[in-house]
Amino acid sequence: MSNEISRRTFIKGAAAAGVVLSASGCFSWNGRNIPEKVRRGDVTYDVLIIGSGGAGMRAALAAAGNKDRKVAVMTKLVPTRSASTMAQGGMNGVTGLTDPTDSIESHAFDTIKGGDYLCDQDAVEYFAERAGKNIFEMDYMGYPYNRQEDGHFHSRKMGGHSHPRAAYFEDRAGHAMVHTLFEQCLDKGIDFISECQMLEISMAGDKLAGVIAMDMRTGNFIGIPAKTVLIATGGYGRAYWVRTSNPYSSTGDGIVAGMKVGIPFKDPEMVQFHPTGLSVNGVLLSESSRSEGAILLNKNRERFMEKYAPEKKELATRDIVARSIATEIEEGRGVGEGLTAGVYLDFTHIPAERIHERLGQVYDLSKRFAGVDITKEPVLISPTCHYSMGGLEMADFHTGETRVPGIYTAGECSCVSVHGANRLGANSLSEVLVFGHTAGDGAAAYAKDHPYEGSQDQLAKDCAKWKDHFDEVTTRPHEGNRTVPEIRDAMVQTMWFKAGVFRNGPQLEEAAKELAKHEEDYKKCYVGDPSHVYNTAFEQYVELGNLLQISHAIVQGAIARKESRGGHTRRDFPKRDDANFLKHTLIFKDETGYRAEYKDVVITKYPPKERKY
Ligand code: FUM
Repeated sequence: MSNEISRRTFIKGAAAAGVVLSASGCFSWNGRNIPEKVRRGDVTYDVLIIGSGGAGMRAALAAAGNKDRKVAVMTKLVPTRSASTMAQGGMNGVTGLTDPTDSIESHAFDTIKGGDYLCDQDAVEYFAERAGKNIFEMDYMGYPYNRQEDGHFHSRKMGGHSHPRAAYFEDRAGHAMVHTLFEQCLDKGIDFISECQMLEISMAGDKLAGVIAMDMRTGNFIGIPAKTVLIATGGYGRAYWVRTSNPYSSTGDGIVAGMKVGIPFKDPEMVQFHPTGLSVNGVLLSESSRSEGAILLNKNRERFMEKYAPEKKELATRDIVARSIATEIEEGRGVGEGLTAGVYLDFTHIPAERIHERLGQVYDLSKRFAGVDITKEPVLISPTCHYSMGGLEMADFHTGETRVPGIYTAGECSCVSVHGANRLGANSLSEVLVFGHTAGDGAAAYAKDHPYEGSQDQLAKDCAKWKDHFDEVTTRPHEGNRTVPEIRDAMVQTMWFKAGVFRNGPQLEEAAKELAKHEEDYKKCYVGDPSHVYNTAFEQYVELGNLLQISHAIVQGAIARKESRGGHTRRDFPKRDDANFLKHTLIFKDETGYRAEYKDVVITKYPPKERKY
């Protein structure tokens, strides 16, 4: 390791310790959750970004390129606590440093093959061309990459890749990214509006008015006017509640808000089940574990991946490895039963120093949650819901715009169609950088050319509507009504066992019926807490409503897609069916309910073929 510089050491320390940089007092973020000008209603933002993960902050940096632009990032958490922070393995991009034989074309091809040909190939080419540049750009910003002897950053090979191309910081790649971007945002004077939960996008007729949010500290409802809104709220893994690697905040809020104003939810059925979540609780053990040499063993200590993917073995794509593990468990070669059944992930042949250098978080998580020292014994893992390939339709990937003027999207809540039916490991952090940048530029350009056409009256009306809703919901009687946690627990049973790793028609139909019942129960559910300060009961009520709508779309998309492709595996239709399903699902929702449309996949120069690993 070389090229250690004090700034790198500083960021590395902050990332490793989970320290919020702003706490040092060296930066302009003052710890108040809402800037005074927002409270007073004195500011109309050019670009209001919802979500402070990698996509949101990268977009903010792009949008704030010009000092006169008014840019804010709003989050229901505090900045740096987003799901991006939990990304572990790395960020892909061709840099020519670790493996000079790698190429942009090869990155594009691996991504398209990994996505089981549901990727829009023009978008993938755009992505692969820019991914490497973003890795260098993060270096200039101070990202604390793990480095090779020659001082350049080192890249590791993740599942489904033909070359090592994931640059990283230990197994805390996302954590370091978020801190690096946050530091840059503070330097640029970007406003942060934190601990404010977005409730909806406010429209005055067909014109964007802004965003309605709840200030968690006070319980006040605030309307923030904006010329453009950029939705970067992350994924929806919590639809699988306790069997997910996502944080509690991944509840699909932005997707639901987008659908409400007419943006379709694209490919919702394409949910990624990561092969290696801790069996005890679904928490991620990075794919970089297998990249560094960890192997999978069943209860008879057989290395079963040799049977399912003879060439790539543990480094086949996630969908294949997850199905292999689920099959071993189903056929009685797993350990334990039910939600916590698993197989072994074995690191014991890897030198302990290497584990501590490159897999420190995997080591800590295994110790903390499973009580296992992975340098000495294998740890039990099983698939866990990890990523949403689906999301709000991005209408033009050159700008990040949606089909509703003034509304942009980027990151996991969006569907650019780079990942298709299965995302490759370490492509998501690169995606948030590439398309966060693009969408930030796109939104800023729109704001420059358009006046604010919304209406403060509309914002006030929408706030009053939410205030009434809050009063009604939080004072409902308990008698006979299910609570939010009860409905959530029922939802996971439906989603994990009937719309999970393996699916089939009759079970999906049952899931749809059960969800309809959960949605009915939700309409009259008991919340019970009418207080205003940090009313997390109301917040969770709103999030559950969002998760139920997301789940509805997942199941609707899955029922209609009568084939198996990537992460969507139908036991009753085990083969991919390009003749009928080389197309994207688009789910729309309005007052009359949900409806589906379809859209062709864009093919450029990679004709669909059977995948072999
Ligand atoms: O396994 C992992 O480290 C996850 C990385 C990713 O989802 O890209």
